[in-house]
Amino acid sequence: MSQREGLNRRAFLRNAGVTALVGAVGTGGAAEAFGAAKAEPISDFAEPPNGKYDFDTPYNRFGTDSVKYDQQVRMYGKDHIQVGMGIADMDFKAPPCIGRALAQRCQHENWGYLDIPKSYYENIAAWNKRRYGLNIDPETIVLTTGVHPGLIAALRVFSPPGTKVLLTSPTYNGFYGDLTYTGTKPEDSPMKLVDGRYSIDFEDLERRIGPETNTLILCNPQNPTGNCWSPDDLMRIGELCLKKRVVVLADEIHCDFVTKDAKYTPFATLPNKAVVNNSLTFKAASKSFSLAAMKHAWFFSTNPDYLARVKAMNRADLSTLGMVANVAALTEGEDWLNQLLPYIEANHEFAVQYVKANMPLVKCVKPQGTYLAWLDLSAAMDRVGAKQKAMEATKKAGKTVTPEQAMVDWFVEHAKVHLNAGSTYGTGGQGHARMNIATSRKTLETALNNMSAALKTL
Ligand SMILES: Cc1ncc(COP(=O)(O)O)c(C=O)c1O
Repeated sequence: MSQREGLNRRAFLRNAGVTALVGAVGTGGAAEAFGAAKAEPISDFAEPPNGKYDFDTPYNRFGTDSVKYDQQVRMYGKDHIQVGMGIADMDFKAPPCIGRALAQRCQHENWGYLDIPKSYYENIAAWNKRRYGLNIDPETIVLTTGVHPGLIAALRVFSPPGTKVLLTSPTYNGFYGDLTYTGTKPEDSPMKLVDGRYSIDFEDLERRIGPETNTLILCNPQNPTGNCWSPDDLMRIGELCLKKRVVVLADEIHCDFVTKDAKYTPFATLPNKAVVNNSLTFKAASKSFSLAAMKHAWFFSTNPDYLARVKAMNRADLSTLGMVANVAALTEGEDWLNQLLPYIEANHEFAVQYVKANMPLVKCVKPQGTYLAWLDLSAAMDRVGAKQKAMEATKKAGKTVTPEQAMVDWFVEHAKVHLNAGSTYGTGGQGHARMNIATSRKTLETALNNMSAALKTL
């Protein structure tokens, strides 16, 4: 029996983390100020007796150094944040299998260098095969500390500094950071917007590919619009990129979140081999199980040349706990995720109905995927005078504050709810904000009630 197998799980559960975890969740001021739950009780990581995971009970994240809550408290002050609806992680308790595996590993008190077992790559391949019919040769999977480092490695290979990276915008704001990091420049191809639904403007996309455009970052499902790209969309993108010698970097980190009437098509399942060979795909379990700070993701490609070149630029220093958490998620967490998906979808429906019934100044269309809602706030921004507020804030801050950021700040001030400003998502993000609905229904309702009440004062 291996040393790891020999760890006494029951002994661990008896002693579970009392010392390790008790300090982790503070009773921070903001939580108390707004009547949020006090420090969470120590978990025994038990499975729910009836087999049903509880997504309904709000889980207090204040006092854990979370970006979504604590960073906002630090920025705006504790009296101004009640609900974090910004950064893309989830408020739910992780599946107990993850806590169990982590706590069990903590019983072995040595944290030396880590070797990655072959089975780990097989777990990733099995997950993708089982859920999406995607065949990945485990030998072609490369681990990385996050999708960002993987994308950056790829940009370093294909897109020298000063060259352009094609994006269909509005798109995930983090991509622009990756471009800054690699000295490359964004070439936004604004999507068409009809009745709140986005579609790719293929003529515009083609027109924007110049001699200096070497890569396209595809986001599928798309953050922030929630679009799941159809096989036809993907094929058109793929054929265009192949023709123009543009490498497709397919970021599919949100793929586990797809609503029941939509479908996620992995880029790597397209029927044209040459198109697939012209791509790399980047994925992770970090969105699906909210493991973002465990720093773990992977990429793969059917093109051995691309793979070898990007691998050479990718330095992945993975952590033991990240590895343990990811293994537990992929091997034991599927039931939790399957129960979560309808909850997320119901949250989307709740938000759309709520906005329709109570917020005439806001528009919101149910997305096809992701746990993000893309709010059209243009009417609310006019009413608030966001442009004027942005000009004043810019003067005061000595740096550009966009009207969208001014609107976000207004919601913080008047509703104690934090959203993400649409202007950070590239061309087409104007007049919008992104709202993360991966939280308990009660918390979502509190946020919407606060926002609605604030808008009614206008
Ligand atoms: C589309 C997309 N890609 C990448 C990331 C970040 O990935 P990672 O934390 O693995 O670097 C995010 C996080 O929100 C995302 O939405």
